Amino acid sequence: MVSDVENIFYGVLQAILSNLLSLILASIAVIAFAYYVRDSLKIGSVDQKWVLVTGCDSGFGNLLAQQLDQQGFNVIATCMTEKGSADLKHVTSPRLKTVILNVTDSASIKNAEEFVRTEVGEQGLWGLVNNAGRSTPIGPTEWMHLDDFKKVLDVNLIGLIEVTLQFLPLVKKAQGRVINVASILGRLSLTGGGYCLSKWGVESFSDSLRRDMHHFGVKVSIIEPGFFKTAVTNLDLIEKDLRRLWNQLPAEVKDSYGEGYLEEYLKAQSFSMNILCSSDIAKVTRCMVHALTARHPRTRYSAGWDAKLFWIPLSYLPSFISDFTVGALLPLPKDN
Ligand SMILES: *[C@@H]1O[C@H](CO)[C@@H](O)[C@H](O)[C@H]1NC(C)=O
Repeated sequence: MVSDVENIFYGVLQAILSNLLSLILASIAVIAFAYYVRDSLKIGSVDQKWVLVTGCDSGFGNLLAQQLDQQGFNVIATCMTEKGSADLKHVTSPRLKTVILNVTDSASIKNAEEFVRTEVGEQGLWGLVNNAGRSTPIGPTEWMHLDDFKKVLDVNLIGLIEVTLQFLPLVKKAQGRVINVASILGRLSLTGGGYCLSKWGVESFSDSLRRDMHHFGVKVSIIEPGFFKTAVTNLDLIEKDLRRLWNQLPAEVKDSYGEGYLEEYLKAQSFSMNILCSSDIAKVTRCMVHALTARHPRTRYSAGWDAKLFWIPLSYLPSFISDFTVGALLPLPKDN
């Protein structure tokens, strides 16, 4: 009698549990599917939309400008140089316009804004892609002067803020999007100099901007690329600048690192950069295109497997783990 009741009890329990498990699995599948569908919804009439991309001489900006042009957007690409501008025009449709822009020069930004305002008219600006950036001087903190920090911060952070402020009214008019290129170095400081600081600043500025502009229908996305082969990771430029920094160090500081330190540093850096840097920069522009064309753009896009599986997870781990990992990438100074 007791065992019958027990059997019924366990039978019912088992039925409930197995149904519960199916229910949970089914819910996860439905949610994942709904997310996938929501994520793949697209906006329409891109031929009625204008997008401004900064830093189009090479790298991500250059490729993005070409891809958006092919998709039918009205692209305005800013370049630093006349040559960059001419080369881009050569491989794009006549619809694509270029304008010379130096993001550290307020007059140059104002000038670009006037040009864009006339171009876009009543439509406003659908997309502002803040992509322009530089990496050098980058290296050990102790080797830097204040100006070395400023050179990078002026372009990557202050320049980006000023461009955003100037163009924001046009973006607001279109209820458009701002897409800011940060980096995994905005999550994890792998090296000294202004670059990591500037990218942390871009993360923070973008978070504030997203929350502040949400009410006006303006959406803000942050792109966090891992290591890619572009002018920013160009070893010739970085090494040349590191030699400059090393050569201006007082003898006492050089001594504390040891005579062969610079060469060891350059060797370790080029070894890891050659392993890390992917030449498939389309992984990054795919994120930018999604942020511009999806009905529901994401807040953050990490681009590259190194970013997704290594750097960003590492950034969440305790400092002693990230310190150890980052330290293992570089040689030890003599005085260690
Ligand atoms: C960009 O503008 C800054 C500030 O006006 C100026 O110092 C710098 O030389 C300019 N850069 C180029 C490449 O024109």
